[in-house]
Amino acid sequence: MRPVRKAVLPVAGFGTRAMPAAKATPKNLLNVFDRPILAHVVEEGRAAGIEHFIFIVGRGQGAIEDYFDHNVELESQLKAKHKGDILGQVTADLSKPGQMSFVRQMQANGLGHAVWCARDLIGDEPFAVMLPDMLMDAKPAALKQCIDAYHAVGGNIIAVEPAPPGQAHKYGIVALGKPAEGFDGRLKAMTGMVEKPPPGTEPSNLFISGRYVLHPEIFDILGHHYRGAGDEIQLTDGMLRLMGIQDFHALEYQGTTYDCGDLLGLLRANLAFGLKHAEHGQAVRDIAQSLLGG
Ligand code: G1P
Repeated sequence: MRPVRKAVLPVAGFGTRAMPAAKATPKNLLNVFDRPILAHVVEEGRAAGIEHFIFIVGRGQGAIEDYFDHNVELESQLKAKHKGDILGQVTADLSKPGQMSFVRQMQANGLGHAVWCARDLIGDEPFAVMLPDMLMDAKPAALKQCIDAYHAVGGNIIAVEPAPPGQAHKYGIVALGKPAEGFDGRLKAMTGMVEKPPPGTEPSNLFISGRYVLHPEIFDILGHHYRGAGDEIQLTDGMLRLMGIQDFHALEYQGTTYDCGDLLGLLRANLAFGLKHAEHGQAVRDIAQSLLGG
């Protein structure tokens, strides 16, 4: 089975749920405790064996490229002042030259269009999609769990999880068939999927939570630019068409998801990552306790 070496990270959205925090800073560069959200997601990708990250960016998001490049002036100052620990921290998230690509989406046409923009860089191999709003804290890494499932059953894999009560209409929702062997019932063949179903029509309560392993045939389908929910080119609709010729499985991964596109989700992620931080965890606990008056 061909390995999954590349990941597409669509980051071009405005971040309307995180305004005004995301007005002048790309939403995925907002912080989760010690690093931008995006750095945590790239770390997850690396832990899953991803070698090349393809960011689909919009106008005004040059700070993302800057974050993942050297800051020569800063680094030489830190060296001169013998601040090796901070130097290590500011260079820890960098890839090797040539292992990150940045593609301008040019038009805000939906997630399917964003993924389609990566077609030439992906070429003819299976690839991952990681939605960086969704921060996943898991061991093994959430994408690694998806890739392990891909190596077990082949085809396309989508991470899913139960939608919060009454919220299913905000997401892509899957319809499921038989469980695959060996995943404790957490990996099931998919029989359908629908993007943002009207309340009451959802085929299940499991939503598409932001990690995918897909095959390159999706690009021909997305290239037709069919429009769906919200008059956008939806990845879910493209995958539903691909399901006509290829298998799809949905994996309920084991771990915790934080929706960092939303200010409260971002706060929750900050608290959770702060509380389990090796150096600062106890201090975060003390701060939280003192704020709560205990
Ligand atoms: C996108 C996908 C949807 C998925 C969601 C997860 O929707 O289209 O299928 O459930 O991400 O966050 P969006 O959040 O862009 O509306």
